[in-house]
Amino acid sequence: MIGAPDARRTMDQETIHCEQLTESGQLRHLLKLEGLGAPIILDLLNRAQSYIRPAGQRPARDNCLHGRTVANLFFEASTRTRASFELAAKRMSADVLNLDVNTSSRIKGESILDTIYTLQAMQADIFVVRDASAGIPELIATKVEPHISVLNAGESDVSHPTQGLLDLLTIRQHKSTFDDLIVTIIGDIAHSRVARSLTEGLRILGNSDVRLVAPPGLEPNPAYYPRTHVTNEIDSAIEGADVLVTLRIQRERIKEKSSLMTNHEYLKQYGLTEKRLALARPDVIVMHPGPMNRDVEIAGSVADGPRSVITQQVTNGLAVRMAILAAVSASRIES
Ligand code: CP
Repeated sequence: MIGAPDARRTMDQETIHCEQLTESGQLRHLLKLEGLGAPIILDLLNRAQSYIRPAGQRPARDNCLHGRTVANLFFEASTRTRASFELAAKRMSADVLNLDVNTSSRIKGESILDTIYTLQAMQADIFVVRDASAGIPELIATKVEPHISVLNAGESDVSHPTQGLLDLLTIRQHKSTFDDLIVTIIGDIAHSRVARSLTEGLRILGNSDVRLVAPPGLEPNPAYYPRTHVTNEIDSAIEGADVLVTLRIQRERIKEKSSLMTNHEYLKQYGLTEKRLALARPDVIVMHPGPMNRDVEIAGSVADGPRSVITQQVTNGLAVRMAILAAVSASRIES
């Protein structure tokens, strides 16, 4: 196995448990999609859809976060998630704090919880957290004051729930139902929080035909992917697919990089090329969470082609993050 995730670390972290919902069933924290019911997910998708505006129009605004403070804590690189959370919070009239990890006191040895308590003392209301270690968002959620919400913006190889929601929204905009769809996810599934959150969401919404295609050594732990079909055979898994999701190799999580294929070889063996795309249904949609490596996991012509919905995913990401901020703001417990 090349660089398979450390299952023991992940299992240990999963022993921390925090309820995502308030006693009345409203969303307080968003840590993972697992455990949320279909009604909550569909409500978030409906809210997000209401924030979508045609290109060229002024973006949607909502002042439901007026007087609230959103703190973005990204301890791992991000373009899309970080920028969209910042814009989402500003478009909802929040005060926004973007902590720069490279100039924060974490590099002087301050623990993440002490950073959280410091910002809590400055009356931050919502923490948006990305971290390379499993369990961090859930740990923070167990420690903050009752009126505070924690949103997982990407957690190791475990969870990326806002990405899962934006992927579901994108699929729903093109397909009439989730249950009969063939969804094929191709790439480094072993290290992908995106694949895990999307399959969790699809399962909750009734889909049972997810095909996971991974190169040898990058197959997932089956315990995290119930009722999916895992294979190394890309062409047969693309045949008849309604949705194709391409993923990059998560090099930052793989120690033995020497065992990885060259970019050229990867494109040949596992890349989504025009020839492979032709095996899918004619109305297939092509997705990629980004960041994208053109002509490695996906041919540039496919990424830019008529079946691609990759930029629409980005637009939906902003709307989904607005919807989540609105939902947790509505469930706030006043202390
Ligand atoms: N898809 C995604 O999480 O992208 P970023 O790493 O740029 O936020």
